[in-house]
Amino acid sequence: MLELLWEIPLLLLRIVLAYVESLFRLFVPPGRKNVDGQVVLITGAGHGIGRCLAIKFAKLGAHLVLWDINETGNEETAAEVRGIGADVNTYTVDVTKKEDVRSVAERVKEEVGDVDILVNNAGILHGLELLRLSDSQIEKLMNVNIMAHFWTVRAFLPAMLERQHGHIVSVASAAGKRGTGKLVDYSASKFAVVGFTEALTMEIREMKISGVYTTTVVPLFVDTGMTRHPRGRFPKLNPMMKPSYVASLIIDGVLRNRVEVMIPGSLKFGMAINNLFVPRKVVLLLEDFFDFGIDAQDKDLTEGKDKDA
Ligand SMILES: NC(=O)c1ccc[n+]([C@@H]2O[C@H](COP(=O)([O-])OP(=O)(O)OC[C@H]3O[C@@H](n4cnc5c(N)ncnc54)[C@H](O)[C@@H]3O)[C@@H](O)[C@H]2O)c1
Ligand SMILES: *[C@@H]1O[C@H](CO)[C@@H](O)[C@H](O)[C@H]1NC(C)=O
Repeated sequence: MLELLWEIPLLLLRIVLAYVESLFRLFVPPGRKNVDGQVVLITGAGHGIGRCLAIKFAKLGAHLVLWDINETGNEETAAEVRGIGADVNTYTVDVTKKEDVRSVAERVKEEVGDVDILVNNAGILHGLELLRLSDSQIEKLMNVNIMAHFWTVRAFLPAMLERQHGHIVSVASAAGKRGTGKLVDYSASKFAVVGFTEALTMEIREMKISGVYTTTVVPLFVDTGMTRHPRGRFPKLNPMMKPSYVASLIIDGVLRNRVEVMIPGSLKFGMAINNLFVPRKVVLLLEDFFDFGIDAQDKDLTEGKDKDA
């Protein structure tokens, strides 16, 4: 017990230093690591954010390994990556099939080598009220959006731990930090992604392994066709962002080994409100004021006309 006499002041001192350091880091961010020649595997690389990530990693000299269930989309991405002059291997994989994930991961090891950066990006969204979803829609969404992370990470993490070198990137969502109507299944899956990656980060830390990093990506609305009816009173606060812009910010965060990347960056302030002591009524008042959320994904069908188009 006596050791607390010096441990507590030391802790306080280190907390103060940590504050000073993080303040300093606001102005002088940590440097970017080099991914030239590194093997980057992206799931859901055939469209949207995944495709943009592939192109940007290619420009940095990475060797791309592209996974998608959609062979056509994946090959389109591969053609763009080749055009840049980067090495690329494509695999048609349904990430929900755990045996396939395992066997294709083995093939990647043989044909390409160890994966340095794994980006779990594949995801789906239904955008319907819970009671309008079918059981199989719900199960499929959970399988793609969260269960697949278990299968891919279990396939590639062992080599990363052994080499004490690697990076697991999880594309979650703002819906993984705050629940929203019409996204009950999606929010549940993305909260799970946030929890999965946070717990994995702590687990790797407990192993006293350095050199294996994690990044949780938390984007708001991205213009890929996935969320077609975002809502918000002040669109500047939750703009429909271009996937190439989002990919740039993801890569910047990954290269700086950031644990969490919120996109847009201003999302941090919105999220902070959730963590302060704010009465539930006040949260709801602000909620109504800002009117954040999305409308049903089939809004255009039920209303007969797509007003946002
Ligand atoms: N679009 C947004 O508004 C938004 C916002 C926050 C987070 N996200 C997340 O970003 C990620 C990428 O989204 P996007 O908007 O680029 O989507 P997208 O629909 O444009 O692309 C997703 C890709 O994943 C692939 N895919 C789907 N199921 C698969 C499976 N079972 N196995 C392998 N590949 C599969 C699709 O074929 C497609 O190529 C997702 O995890 C999504 O939840 C998107
Ligand atoms: C597969 O990708 C191609 C090219 O992007 C697209 O035209 C097609 O609609 C996609 N198929 C499915 C089932 O999503």
